[in-house]
Amino acid sequence: MLDRLQPQSPDALLALIKLYAADDRADKIDLGVGVYRTNEGDTPVFAAIKSAEAKLVAEQDSKSYLGPEGDTGFVRALMPYIFGSDATMGGRIEGMQTPGGTGAVRLAVAVAKQAGVNAIHMGTPSWPNHAQILSDVVIDFKPFDHANADGTANIDAVLQVIRNAQNGDAVLLHGCCHNPTGIDYSNEQWDQIAEAFANSSALPILDIAYQGLGHGLDEDAYGVRKVLAAVPEALVCYSCDKNFGMYRDRVGALYVMAKDGDGLAPILSNLNALARASWSMPPDHGAAAVRVILRDADMTKAWLDELETMRTRMREVRAALADAGDVGSLDLRPLGQQNGLFSVLPLSKGQIQQLRDEHAIYMAGSGRINIAGLHMGNIEKFIGALEAVTS
Ligand code: LMR
Repeated sequence: MLDRLQPQSPDALLALIKLYAADDRADKIDLGVGVYRTNEGDTPVFAAIKSAEAKLVAEQDSKSYLGPEGDTGFVRALMPYIFGSDATMGGRIEGMQTPGGTGAVRLAVAVAKQAGVNAIHMGTPSWPNHAQILSDVVIDFKPFDHANADGTANIDAVLQVIRNAQNGDAVLLHGCCHNPTGIDYSNEQWDQIAEAFANSSALPILDIAYQGLGHGLDEDAYGVRKVLAAVPEALVCYSCDKNFGMYRDRVGALYVMAKDGDGLAPILSNLNALARASWSMPPDHGAAAVRVILRDADMTKAWLDELETMRTRMREVRAALADAGDVGSLDLRPLGQQNGLFSVLPLSKGQIQQLRDEHAIYMAGSGRINIAGLHMGNIEKFIGALEAVTS
């Protein structure tokens, strides 16, 4: 029976990790998978996480099961950072822990389907795994253009989709630091999006996986808060994998906002059942460490400082790229206005291969670069290589 299975190609982004590791050129540059790197090219464990882990080792007295909802202390401690001062919107928001942001998206799509959603509209390009999840859950995926050729967000496309939505439609939007383009909606555009949702039957599914890596925790949550204030119901997928540097520990959460407080229990019971059948319970360690940080003022301050260092460094790299202006056939100026770990360069497959073969520069096949893979020690080489392959 199992010999009927057709071979599947490996996930292209994850395959890039291995290709890069196998390259022994000393000056290689990894702009592939989305992890933060320091000026020295490292991805260290946050000092705040190390402190929290030490405390956990000393104080954790059991590893007994918690249940499909995971660490509820973690889930609640994050809420003011995501949703602001009225963190439950008057008792209408509750959440559960998930294995990373991927688990949150998977659960959101599955529960939306269970509730009667039959099509999900999503701006493209998007994180490739979004489409893979929609296909795996078997729900219709309706793409629209996320961005314009000049590097700005295509606000008309998203507004049209929301305004024309039918019953049974959901719209999946990136809350901030759009993956892969780095092109976010401005606050004024979020105001328009929120107003459009208020007059639409579309269910908003907001994926916020990079809060704090754009302009700041509150700034990056503007869109999520604005939409939630305007609509009766929404799903919010959250990841701590980047802003706490917990990648392989898989730390995420899914929040639901119901029409009223009484509406939460049936939705949560469905989420619990879906989680139980998928992963039973989320992995504990990373979420417990985040909870420890958020309940301790000194550790929280250390975390916020580390996050600010990351954000500042990425803005410096973006500014240096933007300063380079015209490079070969490319205009790097828009990268200065974009946010988060990623931007997309309009390179051909051949040029991307040439960058890899001739310059040891690794990026996704879409032309997506991880801004954090660049630093003051390799950015000149990168710009020179772009000039060489595009001139
Ligand atoms: C990325 O887009 O590089 C990250 O979100 C990692 C992943 O799981 O794809």
